[in-house]
Amino acid sequence: MADPPPHSQLELFLTSDQIQQRVQEMGAEISRDFAGQSLLLIGVLTGASIFLADLARAISLNCDLDFISVASYGTQQHSRGEVRLLRGLEHPVENMNVLVVEDIVDTAATLSYLRTMLLAERPALLKVVTLLDKPSRRLQTVTADTIGFTIPNRFAVGYGMDFAGYYRNLPNIYCMPPASNWSSLHLGKTP
Ligand code: PRP
Repeated sequence: MADPPPHSQLELFLTSDQIQQRVQEMGAEISRDFAGQSLLLIGVLTGASIFLADLARAISLNCDLDFISVASYGTQQHSRGEVRLLRGLEHPVENMNVLVVEDIVDTAATLSYLRTMLLAERPALLKVVTLLDKPSRRLQTVTADTIGFTIPNRFAVGYGMDFAGYYRNLPNIYCMPPASNWSSLHLGKTP
């Protein structure tokens, strides 16, 4: 397959400064909402890793970190909403204040799966924060408690988010060019 376009051909959507300002606001909001408590932040690999690293440092509470990995089936553009666990948690979450950290909620199949799985473990509290929310593509009615930016139905990359393994380490968030050759590729993790 041909390489995706260089990032100079991507459409700038959110600058690093805009992202960092919003992450600081979200961290302050979470710190106020959970004042006096400890949190377990659960990052959903791989896309949320960079957001989680920044968000954790914007929260002024005691936070432990854990990570979970899931695979969704179909293409990223045409998810069938089926999700399976690839890597479980290190920490037990029973009686913990759990904050799931997502980079993006799209169909919400991943979030729905994670909520059901984690609630079965009886955390004291389960909340979800996402940097990006794309409500136009929902297959499930769940959503995040804290949302950084609500975005239109465009394919976002950068700041942890990829297209076929490209662009994750870009500090800005970009949209893929519309109607490009790349949209027909089969994307996402191989189950
Ligand atoms: C992305 C993102 C979310 C999920 C959201 O993960 O990180 O976990 O998709 O999509 P949904 O709301 O339609 O379920 P992806 O499968 O692209 O894996 P990655 O984070 O490893 O790139």
